Amino acid sequence: MIINNLDEMKIFANKLASQLKEGDVLNLIGEMSAGKTTLASFISKYFSIDDSSSPTFAIVNIYEGDIKIYHLDLYRFDEADEILDIDYETYFYPDDGLTILEWGENVADYLPEEMINLEIRKIDENKREVTISDDSRRERQLNEYLSN
Ligand SMILES: Nc1ncnc2c1ncn2[C@@H]1O[C@H](COP(=O)(O)OP(=O)(O)OP(=O)(O)O)[C@@H](O)[C@H]1O
Ligand SMILES: [Mg+2]
Repeated sequence: MIINNLDEMKIFANKLASQLKEGDVLNLIGEMSAGKTTLASFISKYFSIDDSSSPTFAIVNIYEGDIKIYHLDLYRFDEADEILDIDYETYFYPDDGLTILEWGENVADYLPEEMINLEIRKIDENKREVTISDDSRRERQLNEYLSN
Protein backbone atom coordinates (compact mmCIF):
# COMPACT_ATOMS: atom_id res chain seq x y z
CA MET A 1 0.00 0.00 0.00
CA ILE A 2 1.45 3.36 -0.97
CA ILE A 3 0.69 6.32 1.29
CA ASN A 4 1.59 9.62 -0.33
CA ASN A 5 1.38 12.01 2.60
CA LEU A 6 0.26 12.57 6.17
CA ASP A 7 -3.39 13.03 5.17
CA GLU A 8 -3.42 9.65 3.46
CA MET A 9 -1.75 8.12 6.50
CA LYS A 10 -4.60 9.44 8.62
CA ILE A 11 -7.19 7.95 6.27
CA PHE A 12 -5.34 4.64 6.36
CA ALA A 13 -5.13 4.80 10.17
CA ASN A 14 -8.87 5.38 10.48
CA LYS A 15 -9.69 2.50 8.19
CA LEU A 16 -7.32 0.18 10.04
CA ALA A 17 -8.51 1.38 13.44
CA SER A 18 -12.12 0.66 12.53
CA GLN A 19 -11.15 -3.01 12.46
CA LEU A 20 -8.98 -3.10 15.57
CA LYS A 21 -10.30 -4.40 18.85
CA GLU A 22 -9.38 -5.37 22.36
CA GLY A 23 -6.91 -8.22 22.35
CA ASP A 24 -5.09 -7.06 19.24
CA VAL A 25 -1.35 -6.43 19.31
CA LEU A 26 -0.25 -4.15 16.50
CA ASN A 27 3.49 -4.49 15.97
CA LEU A 28 4.83 -1.46 14.10
CA ILE A 29 8.05 -2.15 12.25
CA GLY A 30 10.16 0.50 10.57
CA GLU A 31 13.27 2.62 10.84
CA MET A 32 13.50 5.85 12.83
CA SER A 33 11.10 8.49 11.48
CA ALA A 34 9.23 5.92 9.44
CA GLY A 35 6.00 7.06 11.07
CA LYS A 36 5.25 4.48 13.77
CA THR A 37 4.37 7.04 16.43
CA THR A 38 2.46 9.10 13.89
CA LEU A 39 0.34 6.10 12.94
CA ALA A 40 -0.17 5.20 16.60
CA SER A 41 -1.39 8.76 17.28
CA PHE A 42 -3.87 8.66 14.41
CA ILE A 43 -5.20 5.32 15.64
CA SER A 44 -5.50 6.77 19.15
CA LYS A 45 -7.41 9.75 17.81
CA TYR A 46 -9.84 7.40 16.10
CA PHE A 47 -10.62 6.04 19.58
CA SER A 48 -11.12 9.59 20.93
CA ILE A 49 -7.73 9.80 22.59
CA ASP A 50 -6.12 13.20 22.15
CA ASP A 51 -3.09 13.09 24.34
CA SER A 52 -1.20 10.30 22.68
CA SER A 53 2.09 12.02 23.31
CA SER A 54 5.05 10.04 22.06
CA PRO A 55 6.22 7.49 24.58
CA THR A 56 9.82 8.38 23.79
CA PHE A 57 10.60 9.01 27.43
CA ALA A 58 8.26 6.40 28.81
CA ILE A 59 8.37 2.77 27.88
CA VAL A 60 4.64 2.34 28.33
CA ASN A 61 1.88 4.87 27.85
CA ILE A 62 -1.67 3.89 28.64
CA TYR A 63 -4.48 5.85 27.03
CA GLU A 64 -8.13 5.58 27.96
CA GLY A 65 -10.52 6.40 25.15
CA ASP A 66 -13.31 4.43 23.53
CA ILE A 67 -10.96 1.57 24.22
CA LYS A 68 -7.82 1.30 26.29
CA ILE A 69 -4.57 1.51 24.34
CA TYR A 70 -1.20 0.29 25.58
CA HIS A 71 1.47 2.08 23.57
CA LEU A 72 4.97 0.69 24.09
CA ASP A 73 8.22 2.05 22.72
CA LEU A 74 10.98 -0.46 23.31
CA TYR A 75 13.65 1.47 21.44
CA ARG A 76 15.91 1.89 24.42
CA PHE A 77 15.92 -1.75 25.43
CA ASP A 78 19.47 -3.03 25.10
CA GLU A 79 18.72 -6.44 26.52
CA ALA A 80 15.51 -8.28 25.78
CA ASP A 81 15.40 -9.42 29.41
CA GLU A 82 14.68 -5.85 30.49
CA ILE A 83 11.10 -6.58 29.46
CA LEU A 84 10.84 -8.74 32.58
CA ASP A 85 11.00 -5.54 34.67
CA ILE A 86 7.63 -4.42 33.36
CA ASP A 87 4.23 -6.05 33.38
CA TYR A 88 4.74 -7.25 29.83
CA GLU A 89 2.15 -10.01 29.86
CA THR A 90 -0.59 -7.42 30.40
CA TYR A 91 0.61 -5.61 27.28
CA PHE A 92 1.45 -8.56 25.06
CA TYR A 93 -1.80 -10.40 25.88
CA PRO A 94 -4.15 -7.43 26.31
CA ASP A 95 -7.66 -8.82 26.82
CA ASP A 96 -8.90 -5.41 28.01
CA GLY A 97 -7.21 -3.20 25.45
CA LEU A 98 -5.33 -2.75 22.21
CA THR A 99 -1.53 -2.83 22.25
CA ILE A 100 0.61 -0.86 19.83
CA LEU A 101 4.34 -1.67 19.79
CA GLU A 102 7.29 0.26 18.48
CA TRP A 103 10.66 -1.48 18.31
CA GLY A 104 9.18 -4.77 19.48
CA GLU A 105 12.05 -6.49 17.67
CA ASN A 106 14.24 -5.53 20.63
CA VAL A 107 12.41 -8.12 22.71
CA ALA A 108 11.79 -10.61 19.93
CA ASP A 109 11.90 -13.68 22.17
CA TYR A 110 9.10 -12.36 24.36
CA LEU A 111 6.70 -11.19 21.67
CA PRO A 112 3.37 -12.99 21.46
CA GLU A 113 2.85 -15.36 18.60
CA GLU A 114 -0.34 -13.61 17.53
CA MET A 115 0.37 -10.08 16.35
CA ILE A 116 -0.56 -7.83 13.49
CA ASN A 117 2.81 -7.10 11.94
CA LEU A 118 2.76 -3.82 10.06
CA GLU A 119 5.81 -2.44 8.34
CA ILE A 120 6.24 1.20 7.36
CA ARG A 121 8.93 1.90 4.80
CA LYS A 122 10.01 5.46 4.16
CA ILE A 123 10.16 6.15 0.44
CA ASP A 124 10.73 9.88 0.70
CA GLU A 125 9.97 12.79 3.02
CA ASN A 126 6.19 12.24 2.91
CA LYS A 127 5.70 8.99 1.04
CA ARG A 128 5.49 5.63 2.79
CA GLU A 129 4.90 2.03 1.86
CA VAL A 130 2.79 0.19 4.41
CA THR A 131 2.65 -3.59 4.48
CA ILE A 132 0.73 -5.87 6.79
CA SER A 133 2.10 -9.41 6.89
CA ASP A 134 -0.03 -12.20 5.53
CA ASP A 135 0.92 -14.89 8.04
CA SER A 136 -2.06 -15.11 10.34
CA ARG A 137 -5.77 -15.27 9.76
CA ARG A 138 -6.21 -11.91 11.47
CA GLU A 139 -3.62 -10.28 9.20
CA ARG A 140 -5.23 -11.74 6.11
CA GLN A 141 -8.62 -10.47 7.29
CA LEU A 142 -7.23 -6.97 7.67
CA ASN A 143 -5.45 -7.05 4.33
CA GLU A 144 -8.64 -8.15 2.68
CA TYR A 145 -10.59 -5.32 4.31
CA LEU A 146 -7.95 -2.69 3.57
CA SER A 147 -7.61 -3.63 -0.07
CA ASN A 148 -11.27 -2.83 -0.69
N1 LIG B 1 2.98 9.83 5.17
C1 LIG B 1 3.52 9.97 6.38
N2 LIG B 1 3.25 9.08 7.35
C2 LIG B 1 3.81 9.19 8.57
N3 LIG B 1 4.65 10.18 8.93
C3 LIG B 1 4.95 11.10 8.01
C4 LIG B 1 4.41 11.05 6.70
N4 LIG B 1 4.89 12.09 6.00
C5 LIG B 1 5.69 12.77 6.83
N5 LIG B 1 5.74 12.20 8.04
C6 LIG B 1 6.54 12.70 9.17
O1 LIG B 1 7.54 11.74 9.47
C7 LIG B 1 7.82 11.76 10.86
C8 LIG B 1 7.59 10.36 11.44
O2 LIG B 1 8.02 10.39 12.78
P1 LIG B 1 7.55 9.33 13.85
O3 LIG B 1 7.97 9.87 15.17
O4 LIG B 1 6.13 9.00 13.65
O5 LIG B 1 8.47 8.09 13.44
P2 LIG B 1 8.77 6.77 14.26
O6 LIG B 1 8.71 5.67 13.27
O7 LIG B 1 7.90 6.69 15.46
O8 LIG B 1 10.28 7.00 14.68
P3 LIG B 1 11.07 6.46 15.99
O9 LIG B 1 11.58 5.09 15.67
O10 LIG B 1 12.20 7.43 16.13
O11 LIG B 1 10.14 6.46 17.15
C9 LIG B 1 6.87 12.78 11.49
O12 LIG B 1 7.56 14.00 11.60
C10 LIG B 1 5.75 12.87 10.46
O13 LIG B 1 5.10 14.13 10.47
MG1 LIG C 1 8.27 6.55 17.50
